[in-house]
Amino acid sequence: MRARRQPSLTLRATLAFSVVAMLAVAGAGMYLYETMKGAVMTRSDHAVLARLDHFRKLLQYDLTLTTLQSSPQLFENMLDSEDDIFIIAEPGKPAVIMVNPLHAPLPTMPVVPANMPLSVADMRSGMLDSGVPMRAATVEAVSGGKLVHLTAAHIAVKEMATLAGFRNRILFAVALAFMVTALLGYVLLRRGLRPLRRMASHAAAITPAQLDSRMDNRDTPVELQQLGEAYNAMLDRLADGYQRLTQFSADLAHEIRTPVGSLMGHCQVALRQPRTEDEYQALLASNLEELERISRMVESILFLARADEAQAALSRQTLNLADEMQRVAGYFEGLAEERDIALHTEGDGRIEADPLLLRRALSNLVANAIRYADEGSEIKIRVIESDQRFRIEVENQGPTLDDATLGKLFDRFYRGDASRHQSSDSNGLGLAIVAAIMQLHDGEAAVNQPAPGRICFGLVFPRQPAGRQQQI
Ligand SMILES: Nc1ncnc2c1ncn2[C@@H]1O[C@H](COP(=O)(O)OP(=O)(O)OP(=O)(O)O)[C@@H](O)[C@H]1O
Ligand SMILES: [Mg+2]
Repeated sequence: MRARRQPSLTLRATLAFSVVAMLAVAGAGMYLYETMKGAVMTRSDHAVLARLDHFRKLLQYDLTLTTLQSSPQLFENMLDSEDDIFIIAEPGKPAVIMVNPLHAPLPTMPVVPANMPLSVADMRSGMLDSGVPMRAATVEAVSGGKLVHLTAAHIAVKEMATLAGFRNRILFAVALAFMVTALLGYVLLRRGLRPLRRMASHAAAITPAQLDSRMDNRDTPVELQQLGEAYNAMLDRLADGYQRLTQFSADLAHEIRTPVGSLMGHCQVALRQPRTEDEYQALLASNLEELERISRMVESILFLARADEAQAALSRQTLNLADEMQRVAGYFEGLAEERDIALHTEGDGRIEADPLLLRRALSNLVANAIRYADEGSEIKIRVIESDQRFRIEVENQGPTLDDATLGKLFDRFYRGDASRHQSSDSNGLGLAIVAAIMQLHDGEAAVNQPAPGRICFGLVFPRQPAGRQQQI
């Protein structure tokens, strides 16, 4: 089943940015709106209070109720719009002046006594049926010895219209902020993430034949640089592994071709004319020998290929090194005697290792020593113990090798010139297997020449295998 496609990072980040921008603009807009609303309402409150104050003084000193009653239009003209209400009445009597074009219902209000100053606290709020708010107040005044009540109110129609306009602008700004951030964010993010797309197309173009191409990380942002470097390092490792594999298979083809070719040659020559039974037997025997060598080579190659992959297959046991050396020396005694070579073992110790692999590594070294040592010489097999490690050495007397040759001995398929000529038995894989076995054991295989004409191979085991704790 295909995994569900996740929304793109660009889209998610863009949306998140846009929502943040929108919330910020909306917050600022709301704050400004509330401030403006407060200011507008305070201004209208002060206008109402100023009007009341003005008429209270006018009635007290200049105008009389009778003058007013005779010319009510005077008042109506003094008020500028439909939004203002003004009422003058003697308590308990019908109003002398009544300006209320919208017939708006007034809230109940306290009456401010004639000698008291007016303040915003004396005002009350009301509301028209249409939902428009109104602010109103009532004061007492004395005119020509009579007590009159003055009521003034303001309906905030214009203010509300202004505020509604302002609110629409804020909504527009919020929508604009969302869209602009979304657009800009999308463009910028896409640009920022370009190296990722470049990496994807680079990776898509990689084939075994093109493992040497690398990403150019120069203009990559810091965050992606690490990824780019890791990616290039991975390609380095892959290219290296692939190169070794190619080399290995080329070597392998080359190594197999020679013995197979020589087998075919022998058979062709033999078939050219009738042969005696002895001749056929000799041919079959030599072919069998050659086939055994090929079979050993295939087995060794398989072993090396598996050792490259698997560390897990090790089955470690505690081994007594004196016993192991004895066992291998015993096994090779016959071969050594053929060349008049003496085998000596020396030292002891216990290590944790895979017994089959340890025997194989040691056998390869001893087999080499017997094969390449001078006739009639002596081979020493010994254990040298130090704080950190065990070193199993196999030392023999033989040709003096230069440093370059010493460095190549552990390479796969490397054979010294002498061994090429002397023996068709040699594959050049024995020491490569020794090195692979030591690597599996977190140790190493080494070679040195303690004196001219003496060569010493060593298996170095760490005392405590890496990554394993002492068993209690
Ligand atoms: N003890 C030794 N003394 C001198 N030369 C050695 C010794 N051991 C190895 N060599 C040289 O190192 C080469 C590689 O050894 P290695 O064991 O890997 O391959 P081989 O012995 O040639 O073949 P194989 O072990 O696969 O049958 C040998 O061909 C030989 O020239
Ligand atoms: Mg060998």
